[in-house]
Amino acid sequence: MATQEDLEDARLQQILLQQLQSLQRAGVRQLPRAGILSGEIPPGKPDQPPATSLSPVPEMQSTPSPENALEQLELLRQKVAGCTLCDELAASRTQTVFGVGNPQARLCFFGEAPGRDEDRQGEPFVGRAGKLLTDIIHKGMQLQREDVYILNVLKCRPPGNRNPSPEEANCCRPFFERQLEIIQPEFICCLGTVATQNLLQTRETIGRLRGTVHNWQGIKVIATYHPAYLLRNPAAKKDTWEDIQLLMREMENTTGDTV
Ligand code: URA
Ligand code: URA
Repeated sequence: MATQEDLEDARLQQILLQQLQSLQRAGVRQLPRAGILSGEIPPGKPDQPPATSLSPVPEMQSTPSPENALEQLELLRQKVAGCTLCDELAASRTQTVFGVGNPQARLCFFGEAPGRDEDRQGEPFVGRAGKLLTDIIHKGMQLQREDVYILNVLKCRPPGNRNPSPEEANCCRPFFERQLEIIQPEFICCLGTVATQNLLQTRETIGRLRGTVHNWQGIKVIATYHPAYLLRNPAAKKDTWEDIQLLMREMENTTGDTV
């Protein structure tokens, strides 16, 4: 008969298995060797295979692939967190705001820069404009924020929410381009003038850029008004709804999953 201890062991095994499966679903492919974190076992040489591997997927590669997007994004997030290329922004920020969402999202929303709420919370689009974006995602598209990925041109808040300077946007360009390369979305929805002009490297106005499908490195790009603009100009919401419907039609017409 199973003793109390056997039952406890079985329960622990089940919990451990569930946690490993959850990590695996999140894209994690390797764990540190038992004891490394607590200092009991010295780390192995870099060329040794990891002792604990969730799958035979090779070690972290520099080439982005869906399997290691989570790790690649985490490495990039750490680089961004230490960035001091823009003196003023690095000095005034509470923290960098990297991006949030599904590392394998079909759709990325691309905004301008963190505002006060984002600077405080470390997550894009969590303030008033963010609430409107979340409504567009939930009510308009029947998706969850967790289904998509949300990022900005700038990773730091410009003081007083002024527009990013071209120099600042250029400093952040390698970061947002790399983020998009890692995620490899099929669609990018640019929110507002700054995001659209910086991604497509154009001076055209948002009024002219919205309403059609653009291409950036093989990814379909839709541009629409920024949610903060929509809050000030509710009459433009009908245009954004048209843009979102165009985006949804494009997403339905490709063979990917629903998300
Ligand atoms: N506006 C943006 O462009 N991005 C945010 O994250 C918040 C507000
Ligand atoms: N001006 C902007 O900067 N963004 C918009 O979305 C519309 C006008």
